[in-house]
Amino acid sequence: MGTLHVLEHPLAAHIITHLRDERTKPITFRTLTYQISLLLALEATRDLGVRPREIATPLEACTGEVLGASLAVVPILRAGIGMVQPFTDLFPDVSVGYVGLERDHKTAIARNYYCKLPPLEGKRVFIVDPMLATGGSATQAIDVLKRKGADNVTLVCIVSAPEGARAVWAAHGDVEIFTAAHDRCLNARKYILPGLGDFGDRLYGT
Ligand code: PRP
Ligand code: URA
Repeated sequence: MGTLHVLEHPLAAHIITHLRDERTKPITFRTLTYQISLLLALEATRDLGVRPREIATPLEACTGEVLGASLAVVPILRAGIGMVQPFTDLFPDVSVGYVGLERDHKTAIARNYYCKLPPLEGKRVFIVDPMLATGGSATQAIDVLKRKGADNVTLVCIVSAPEGARAVWAAHGDVEIFTAAHDRCLNARKYILPGLGDFGDRLYGT
C-alpha cells in the first residue's frame, strides 16, 4: 500500500476553499491552481536527492548542495496542464510529457487519446492531475508510464477521494500520492464530494 500525503498548511486550506467555491471565476481559479500546485510541488519533492558541490562565496570556500535527481512531470490532459508550470518554474531541467485521458460522461471510464513522453528510465516522475475520483485515469496513466520505463512514479493531485486512492494502490502499491484535500466519497455520477465540480471546465471556462 502506498502512502497518502495530505498538505497541512493554512494557506492550502484557504486556497482549496476558494477553489471549491462555485462563484470563483476561471481567471482566479487558474491563479489558485498555480498556487496550490506550487505548494504541492514543494511537498512532493522534499526527499529529492542532492549532491555536494564545492563553491566559493565572496568570503571563503564552502561545500553546498545541488539537486542530483533528474525529474519529469507528466500532466494528464487536459486539467493536469494547469499544474505543470510550478514544476517547470522551480526545476530548470525538468522534462515534460503528456498523457491524454478523458472520462466518458456516462460510464466515468477514461479513454486514452494522446501520449507523448520523454525518456523516463532513472527519472523521478510526477504525474499531475487535479482530481483523483475513481482512480481510473491515474491508474491508466501510471500503466502507460511504467510500460515506457518509469520505475519511480509519484501522483500529485489537488482533490482526492478514498475510492481513487484505493484503486491506484490496488494496481500500483508503490506509488505515493500527494493531495491538498482528501474528500469524503464519490456521488452516483463519480464526482468527488464535496469536491469542486469538473476541474477542467472550471479551469478553462467550458
Ligand atoms: C478529470 C480529472 C481526471 C479525471 C479523474 O478529467 O482531471 O483526469 O477526471 O477522474 P477518475 O479518477 O474517475 O478517472 P476528465 O476526464 O473530466 O477530462 P478533462 O481533464 O479533459 O476535463
Ligand atoms: N473529474 C472532475 O473534474 N471532478 C470530479 O469530481 C471527478 C472527476
